[in-house]
Amino acid sequence: MEKIIIAIDGYSSTGKSTIAKRLARELGYIYVDTGAMYRAVTLFAMENGLLDGEVADREGLIRKLGDINIRFVLNDGLGYAETFLNNVNVEERIRTMEVSNRVSGVAAISEVRHKLVEEQRKMGEGKGIVMDGRDIGTVVFPDAELKLFMTASPEIRATRRYKELLGKGKEVTYEEVLENVIDRDYIDSHRKDSPLMKAPDAIELDNTDMGKDEQFERIYNHAMRII
Ligand code: C5P
Repeated sequence: MEKIIIAIDGYSSTGKSTIAKRLARELGYIYVDTGAMYRAVTLFAMENGLLDGEVADREGLIRKLGDINIRFVLNDGLGYAETFLNNVNVEERIRTMEVSNRVSGVAAISEVRHKLVEEQRKMGEGKGIVMDGRDIGTVVFPDAELKLFMTASPEIRATRRYKELLGKGKEVTYEEVLENVIDRDYIDSHRKDSPLMKAPDAIELDNTDMGKDEQFERIYNHAMRII
């Protein structure tokens, strides 16, 4: 069977990673969560005094980029990879609201993007990869064989994310989550460098009223037509 690259882009909390993980498992592909990489850089900035309030100290962070090492390590018990920042497991810490509120500012810095895009391209060299993010089909792999663009209403996305965070025991309000989803989408879509947008050849999937199984089957069928 031919190995391909599957690029999944879209707005925040549209369920990209859930679909991408399942697809990778079914196909025996590698799954890469590029949002985790931008979150890890943000955590690094937070822990190294490289943020001025909510805003990144751009020059300071750029100088330190060489000190940031991000790896994904498979956790056999969980069945998926966890994110390591400089050899420390940060999977939990990168998912907090503190990181969510700052990550889009950090991700708008071109030097940060260049570093991470280069690493992402290396991961895809052997194909057989499902990668999700905001610029995978447009910038990282413009020649990806299958591109998807996921959308859903902000309210439904915030509701899903809110329930997920509550399930993990986090103290958040629905309003706070909705505001974060809307803010991130705005910053991600309006930044100068590789803004979030649908690649012309991407298949758009609005999952506002669609269950996980239906979404998965549609995407899986698209993949099987190519592979
Ligand atoms: O996917 P996730 O919601 O975890 O991504 C967190 C943030 O990282 C996004 O809101 C965006 O600012 C940034 N990001 C990006 N490019 C990617 C993946 C994520 O700019 N390819």
